[in-house]
Amino acid sequence: MSRRPAHLLLLIPLGACRGVQTSLDPAGAEAGHIFSLWTLMLWICGGMYLLVIAFLGWAIWRSRKPLGLSAKPITRTEDRRLEVALAGWAGVIVLGLSVLVAASFLVDRNLASAPAGAPLKIKVTGYQWWWRVEYQDGPVDRWFETANELHLPQGRTAEIELQSNDVIHSFWVPNLSGKTDLIPGRTNTLRLTPRRAGELRGTCAEFCGFQHAHMALDVTVESPQAFETWRARQIATPAPPSSPLTQQGLAIFQDQACSMCHRIAGTEARGRTGPDLTHLGSRKSIAAGSLPYSVGALAGWIANPKAVKPGTKMPTVGLSAAETNALVAYLDTLK
Ligand code: CUA
Repeated sequence: MSRRPAHLLLLIPLGACRGVQTSLDPAGAEAGHIFSLWTLMLWICGGMYLLVIAFLGWAIWRSRKPLGLSAKPITRTEDRRLEVALAGWAGVIVLGLSVLVAASFLVDRNLASAPAGAPLKIKVTGYQWWWRVEYQDGPVDRWFETANELHLPQGRTAEIELQSNDVIHSFWVPNLSGKTDLIPGRTNTLRLTPRRAGELRGTCAEFCGFQHAHMALDVTVESPQAFETWRARQIATPAPPSSPLTQQGLAIFQDQACSMCHRIAGTEARGRTGPDLTHLGSRKSIAAGSLPYSVGALAGWIANPKAVKPGTKMPTVGLSAAETNALVAYLDTLK
């Protein structure tokens, strides 16, 4: 390999410093605290590592003469200098560790501090392998549910209640905060205070079975106005289908197995086993980030879910091509 590609390879790790899923590009207050601690740890531990390597190099350089020729007994002055050097080294270690302990304590306190103002209440439940997301903010008639997506208003703290329906999962939006586990029979709470608008990606960070890697979450941080617009749309019941094709699609959804597991507000479909599909057509991806949202992807997913996501609990319903076409046309109206 020539020199240039070798240098380019060194750039690959730096690629992780920017992006929609990295803790090195904080977009929220909590991630900012964690990033400061990470940077401090990097400098202190990196500095100590370099010191150790420098001493090792010096020791090797000193002992380059063949053994035996310079085997003079250590003098009293040398002995004294060695003692001072060792005591100094121990002091540097104690100081470095003390700074790290104090910094971790302060960051922990910051992460646990109560938010200013009323937090936005959201409940997230982990399933094998998707996220149920319930906005439980304000009066009950303004509560609504979605799946595998999280919209957060910039500048307001969201208090997320984390529960699991089956096994241990871990909720992680690296640009916003650290990981928090979802443990069956227990409720954990995580606070997120997004500072910068943009699209982010969250993921499950605890191995939870076959499709653990396909358990992603689309996160959108937006201005409070844009968030209210999105929330109003999510609360609204979608208009009933107007064309014969989409009406046929709704009939298929209600009569076939779909409605046993999925809910669509304003219809007879009230299943609670799978994701709420009331506004499926407005989502960015399907099957918890397995495929980007499109009519074609949706048709492929319905036709053979296990081909896209082996092990998924979603069964193959066995619809004809025409039925799938009508069903997908209807689902795509659910904006
Ligand atoms: Cu859920 Cu890994």
